[in-house]
Amino acid sequence: MSSIRYEVITEDNTICIKDLCNDLMAYQKSKAQIHPEFFDNMCFESRVIPSVKSAKANYIVIAKENNDIVGYAYSNISPKKIYSGGFATLQCDSFFDFDSVKNADVGCLSQFFIKDAYRNAGIGSVLFERSMDWLNSFKSINDVFIFVSNGNNNALKFYLSKGFSISHQILEGFITVLRTT
Ligand SMILES: CC(C)(COP(=O)(O)OP(=O)(O)OC[C@H]1O[C@@H](n2cnc3c(N)ncnc32)[C@H](O)[C@@H]1OP(=O)(O)O)[C@@H](O)C(=O)NCCC(=O)NCCS
Repeated sequence: MSSIRYEVITEDNTICIKDLCNDLMAYQKSKAQIHPEFFDNMCFESRVIPSVKSAKANYIVIAKENNDIVGYAYSNISPKKIYSGGFATLQCDSFFDFDSVKNADVGCLSQFFIKDAYRNAGIGSVLFERSMDWLNSFKSINDVFIFVSNGNNNALKFYLSKGFSISHQILEGFITVLRTT
């Protein structure tokens, strides 16, 4: 797809991913067998806005065809402590074992969505690589996490093929935690 352009958007412009973020939540709900209702209070306002505010650094890269946004990836750097007691709209003991993370901050590929008609054409791989380059540019970051909701086997396969490994599950299997280390 040679007509695709990639752009990094500023925090002032996060609203432009609102519709795709809500499509991502609906997609994940449609795949989930375990606690699909957890997605009912997840939307752009409850997921992106608070996350962008609480993170130390944010990176949103979009793929555009003409003026249409056809995909995005949202990554951030956050203090590992924000993942204690759950995260965003999800409450649990913690998302990962803090002792296994030496540094104070962690990286996360938090959201990732390509419109259906644009999948399997390499766009996700470009957004993924750009996100990893940004995350790995922080010398203070040794640990990068991805949280995949249950039933999303395509995404799981995609991340495993890109070098991530399954660490453990949380929230009764609602989420599989992937990490690089
Ligand atoms: C997961 C997702 C972001 C991947 O994006 P994508 O644009 O489809 O990814 P790519 O096209 O780069 O790669 C997908 C597959 O196509 C293959 N591919 C890559 N370039 C290709 C090309 N030019 N032509 C055909 N196939 C290609 C890749 O090898 C990959 O195969 P693999 O999964 O077996 O490794 C996308 O499928 C998506 O949005 N899914 C729905 C939302 C979702 O699950 N988000 C993740 C939440 S955790």
